[in-house]
Amino acid sequence: MNFRGALRKIFRAALELAIADKVFDLRADEISELLSGVIQTHDERFGDYTATFAMSLAKRLALPPRRVAAEVIKRLDVTGLFDPPGDPVGPGFINLRVSDAALESAVARAVGDSRMGVAAVEQKLRIVLDYSSPNVAKPMHVGHIRSTVIGDALHRILRFRGHETITDNHLGDWGTQFGMILWGWKHFRNEQAFESNPTVELGRLYRMVRKLVDASTAVRELPHTLAAIEKVAAALAELPPDARETSREESKRPALNREHAVLSEASSQWKKAIVDVESDPVLARIVRDHQHEHIDQQVLAETAKLHRGDPESVSLWESFMPACRREIERVYERLDVTFDHTLGESFYHGMLPGVVSDLLEKGLAQESRGAICVFLDGFASPFVVRKADGAFLYSTTDLATIQWRMENWKPNRILYVVDHRQGLHFQQLFATARAWGFDAIDLRHVEFGTVLGDDGRPFKTRSGDTVGLESLLDEAVRRAAAVVANGDPNKSCFSQEEQSRIAHAVGIGAIKYADLSQNRTSDYVFSFDKMLQLSGNTAAYMQYAVARVEGIFQKGEIDRTLLRSETQSVRLADPLERRLAMGLLRFSEILEDVEADSRPSGLSTWLFDTAGRFSTFYDALSVLKAEENERPHRLALCDLTGRILRSGLELLGIRVVDKM
Ligand code: ARG
Repeated sequence: MNFRGALRKIFRAALELAIADKVFDLRADEISELLSGVIQTHDERFGDYTATFAMSLAKRLALPPRRVAAEVIKRLDVTGLFDPPGDPVGPGFINLRVSDAALESAVARAVGDSRMGVAAVEQKLRIVLDYSSPNVAKPMHVGHIRSTVIGDALHRILRFRGHETITDNHLGDWGTQFGMILWGWKHFRNEQAFESNPTVELGRLYRMVRKLVDASTAVRELPHTLAAIEKVAAALAELPPDARETSREESKRPALNREHAVLSEASSQWKKAIVDVESDPVLARIVRDHQHEHIDQQVLAETAKLHRGDPESVSLWESFMPACRREIERVYERLDVTFDHTLGESFYHGMLPGVVSDLLEKGLAQESRGAICVFLDGFASPFVVRKADGAFLYSTTDLATIQWRMENWKPNRILYVVDHRQGLHFQQLFATARAWGFDAIDLRHVEFGTVLGDDGRPFKTRSGDTVGLESLLDEAVRRAAAVVANGDPNKSCFSQEEQSRIAHAVGIGAIKYADLSQNRTSDYVFSFDKMLQLSGNTAAYMQYAVARVEGIFQKGEIDRTLLRSETQSVRLADPLERRLAMGLLRFSEILEDVEADSRPSGLSTWLFDTAGRFSTFYDALSVLKAEENERPHRLALCDLTGRILRSGLELLGIRVVDKM
């Protein structure tokens, strides 16, 4: 049962009546927007739901809000679901309370329903989810966790809602990182090391060449940057010393200061890149040996060779890929994440020339200083689809990907779960795709913020490298084991095997849940201590809440399937029972909201609230020892709570355990 959905329909009918009665001069298509103002009350004392739209409607109609509310109430038919509404409150809020009878029968139906009262969507869509999508051959780091975990949760939720989902891991398996590895392989490979651990060796080559490329770029760029700094400094020095803040000359100061700061930051980055290489004897020697070549350009040439289909480069690439794939597979396995497809960038390579020529033919793209660009209204910079040297870009691949997905999968919607720093890319991509003719598809960038360390800067280890994902997962499980065993594994009441299963669920769950419980668009601080706490909104607390409900049935030796088939009605005599039941029956609307704004945090917040309602209920009222006339009703509530918490966590991709 979705009471909010039902109530919105009731309000729609009332508004349509008011239009028919000529009381409201409103278009039918304005109604939906108003109905999104029918929401849960902030304060339970005012009822369960409230309609907040009377104020905006009143403004639109130029009528007093309370009169608008009264006209709506007059036409509201809530029979069988809600108590009759009272007068509008304050500036026109219409508050409603679900009737006891409707709530009791909805709970009973949810108890007997394998979907716990959550109906499948009426309009089933085909939705493609593009998530995780790491650039392979670089070690995966903590940033990749966000896309993987958020994408996986959205996938589970959309599928449960009844949509048809297609998940696709759009691997970066074709980018410049392969130019670095290929160049590194040709000059510095250690075949023995590759034999014994391919990704470690590829990672070593990648990091090494990356530093060399950065340094060679720095050597070229630093003089320009230093010259630019001098110019800005001179301009600053020329400003009259005693100028008033309002003077025209003085007004240039802030912009100059900003420019100075940006350039200084750049120059220190360049210097650091050079020092990094010079202070490393091995790298310093390589630079001396290659001093007449531009390493960065050689690396680019190496990428271009691969893209041209040079047999040697392609065959090396093919020999690297299986190891790269195995490495990320291992991570996905530990995270319980799967994909229907893994079509990396390389898959689209052959389609890129066609994309560019089609854009040119349709007059959407044009040449500008040798590059092929799409100029779009509302964007300061063009969307470049082919560089002057002939190379295709990330943008070209993404356009080809949309075209291919549309031809082969015909989705209604595509979600891209990608870092917020790629915001502009996706805005330009979507605008170009629409102009190109893909205007019926709903394209959404599900962006997320950065993972920060305790110091508020992007999460790094002490050595300065971003933390490898696998070691992070290991550490989470290790720390969880200590928490679960309460410091002493030998005194635990669980077997070794149980302990390790629980530690895995709690450790991996903690990392996932910490991420999913955050508002995805904010940066969030990664902290093992916080995420492994047993109280507060953490995975461990939620997993414990499930185990606690399980415990009731184990202790009472109760057959839950019988309970479900036999529950005909549920009486909610105590306010705490009603409060719990009302919370449980929001499951359906919560999932609806998660779909609407792609925010899994809405689900975790509600699960936490539900666990709290259960706790209050369970601490105050007896269940197993309740009177005979109360016991079955309370047990039914416990059963529904347990199943909802469990499936809610599973929808977030968090494993649950029966005992903890
Ligand atoms: N490989 C990219 C990166 O690591 C993310 C790809 C996201 N998906 C896409 N279709 N662009 O930044």
